[in-house]
Amino acid sequence: MTDYLSLAEDIAREAGEMLLAKRPTMSRQVETKSSPTDVVTALDTASEQLIRERVRAARPGDRFLGEEGGEAPGESEVRWIVDPIDGTVNFLYGLPDWAVSIAVEVKGEVVAGVVNVPARGEVYTAALGRGAWLGGGRLRCNTGVPLAQALVATGFGYFAGRREVQGEVVAKVLPRVRDIRRGGSCAVDLCSLAAGRVDAYYERGINPWDYAAAGLIAVEAGARLGGLHGRPVGPSYALCAAPGLFEELHDLLAPLDPERDA
Ligand code: IPD
Repeated sequence: MTDYLSLAEDIAREAGEMLLAKRPTMSRQVETKSSPTDVVTALDTASEQLIRERVRAARPGDRFLGEEGGEAPGESEVRWIVDPIDGTVNFLYGLPDWAVSIAVEVKGEVVAGVVNVPARGEVYTAALGRGAWLGGGRLRCNTGVPLAQALVATGFGYFAGRREVQGEVVAKVLPRVRDIRRGGSCAVDLCSLAAGRVDAYYERGINPWDYAAAGLIAVEAGARLGGLHGRPVGPSYALCAAPGLFEELHDLLAPLDPERDA
């Protein structure tokens, strides 16, 4: 497991350095994907290509799932789940909260995760059962926070219809919590939760590459991660918070959105 983690960390650091170096000149080379608000820069593609090449060179038989290039099949029981830039809109605008996210899954379970936030100089890591770390410091999420005093991070999808529902849900959550944050990167949001910078996170419609690494980091920092009604995180909801707050948030969200597209 340590080998997976150190390889993932080396590759995430290399991709982060490349992105920091090239961002000033290349970040404006943009195309749109699933909707006019869903953008991909030339550097998302370059970062994923670098990561794919490094993984293939070190572990040729492993499978790979990347946000930009999709699935690469393989014989191995190991799969790398990669978001080459999570928070692409932040990256495009020169905001610091974007990340290179690399998770290693073995037989369907994430065992190692790295989230490199290059513009902040922060590298978050976790290994299954061995804790979550920011540099040399062990991470612990906030505990004992009631919903009414919780700082809650969330995010929005790229489809207008989904955003309408997300807007309705936010309008109901906001009066019940300390405040809401929309940071712009699911991976950074979950790492912020692990570091105690927010108390809770929820979002509807995130993908495995957004949360695979950071979800392990949050869980290893003591948080609970799951969907609504006991389901795992899936195409509908992701909720994350310390036990107690998780249940309070769940009970607030469950009646607001009966998973219309689940
Ligand atoms: C997005 C970010 C954002 C979240 C979106 C994701 P991307 O990922 O994580 O915070 O709200 O749902 O799609 O597109 O920047 O890789």
